[in-house]
Amino acid sequence: MKTLLAVAHSMTGGTWQMATAAVEAAAAAAGDDCTVRLLRAAEAGPDDVLAADGYLFATPENLASMSGMLKDFFDRCYYPALDRIEGRPYATLVCAGSDGSGAARQIERIATGWRLKPAAAPLIVCTHAQTPEAITAPKHIGAADLQRCAELGAALAAGLAMGVF
Ligand SMILES: Cc1cc2nc3c(=O)[nH]c(=O)nc-3n(C[C@H](O)[C@H](O)[C@H](O)COP(=O)(O)O)c2cc1C
Repeated sequence: MKTLLAVAHSMTGGTWQMATAAVEAAAAAAGDDCTVRLLRAAEAGPDDVLAADGYLFATPENLASMSGMLKDFFDRCYYPALDRIEGRPYATLVCAGSDGSGAARQIERIATGWRLKPAAAPLIVCTHAQTPEAITAPKHIGAADLQRCAELGAALAAGLAMGVF
C-alpha cells in the first residue's frame, strides 16, 4: 500500500480547487493500492512527509514565489526529512495570476535538495488576476484546467501504485 501526500495552500481558492481535482482523480486511479491524503500546508509536518511515498505540492504564486504558508511547510520539514525520502516522486501545481514560474522553480530546487524525482513538469494555471479587485476575488478554475490537474494526479497515483517511479 502506497501513500500519496498532497500539501496545498490557497488564499482565494484556486490552488485548492486544483489540488482537490488532482487528489480525487488520484484516489480514483489508484483505488485500494494507494492512500491519498490532502493536507493544508499549515497542518502538514515532517511525520506526514516521512510516511508518504510520493508528493504533490500545490501553491499560489505570490510575489514571484511560492506562498509563505507552503514555504513554512518546507522550512519545518526540510531538515527532518533530508536524506530520508530520496528517490520518491513528486509533482507541482501552481495557481498564478500571470506567471507561476518563480514558484515552480523554488519548489524544484527544494525537491532537488531532497533528491526527489520529478514525475511531471510543473503544472501552472493562470487565473489572469492582476488588479487589486481581481487578486482578492474568489477564484474559479475552469473545467479544462481542472482536467489537467486530474490527469496529473491520476498519473502520479497510478505510477506510485504500480511502482514505476
Ligand atoms: C500578494 C500577492 C502576490 C501575487 N504575486 C503574483 C506573482 O508574482 N505572479 C503571479 O503570476 N501572480 C501573482 N499573484 C496572483 C495569484 O497568484 C493569483 O491570484 C492566484 O489565483 C492565487 O491563487 P489562490 O486562489 O489559490 O490563492 C499574487 C497574489 C497576491 C495576493
